[in-house]
Amino acid sequence: MNEQDKLKKAVGEKAATMVKDGMKVGLGSGSTVYWMIRSLGERIQKDGLKIEGIPSSNQTAIWAEEAGIPLTDFSHVKELDITIDGADEVDANNHLIKGGGAALFREKVIAQAAKEFVIIVDQSKIVDTLGEFSLPVEVLPFSWHRTANEISKLGCVPTLRVNEEEPLVTDNGNYILDCPFKVIPFPDKLNKEIKSIVGVIETGLFIDMVTTVIVGEKDNINIK
Ligand code: 5RP
Repeated sequence: MNEQDKLKKAVGEKAATMVKDGMKVGLGSGSTVYWMIRSLGERIQKDGLKIEGIPSSNQTAIWAEEAGIPLTDFSHVKELDITIDGADEVDANNHLIKGGGAALFREKVIAQAAKEFVIIVDQSKIVDTLGEFSLPVEVLPFSWHRTANEISKLGCVPTLRVNEEEPLVTDNGNYILDCPFKVIPFPDKLNKEIKSIVGVIETGLFIDMVTTVIVGEKDNINIK
């Protein structure tokens, strides 16, 4: 395991300790969340921890089932106690860019539904200002060319995310536009501008949603 993976494992395991008996848990997506899910699975097997999870992606649902985490959905649950997820960038105000794994829409749903929204990252994800990572935006396939053109007026040239030379289709049946803004000085404003474009399903900007960030640093876990 390389150093970055060790940090991902450490923060994933740390976040799993925040989950208590009886909690409804939003399960994020990505390689850092994988370790959190494994750790929750171990607590279920060894300590009899009783929880229910709502997964943010089909891949997460598979991992959760393998780990023995019972799953539920929003027809049974109004509010989540805690959501734990990774991120692609975290800025000085704990605003985020997410969606590197194309799961941003459901990730934002489980983030907004939760009393506590905990982000787990290795130190490479910490930035002063968002935007170096191209902003993922989920869009309706029907109008994606037009939506991309509208987004380009805000200062970037969006590209359609592809997988094996075909458009990547999200778990919701939509496309992802990757938007290289380079620097996003006013993420709240940009989020509102992009959201106002018809055809945009959701953006990967998570503004004022986070309650705790757990950062894996060399020889230390920093909680902020
Ligand atoms: C998926 C995400 C992930 O949380 C983000 O890409 C971080 O992934 P990883 O933990 O693998 O670095 O937003 O849509």
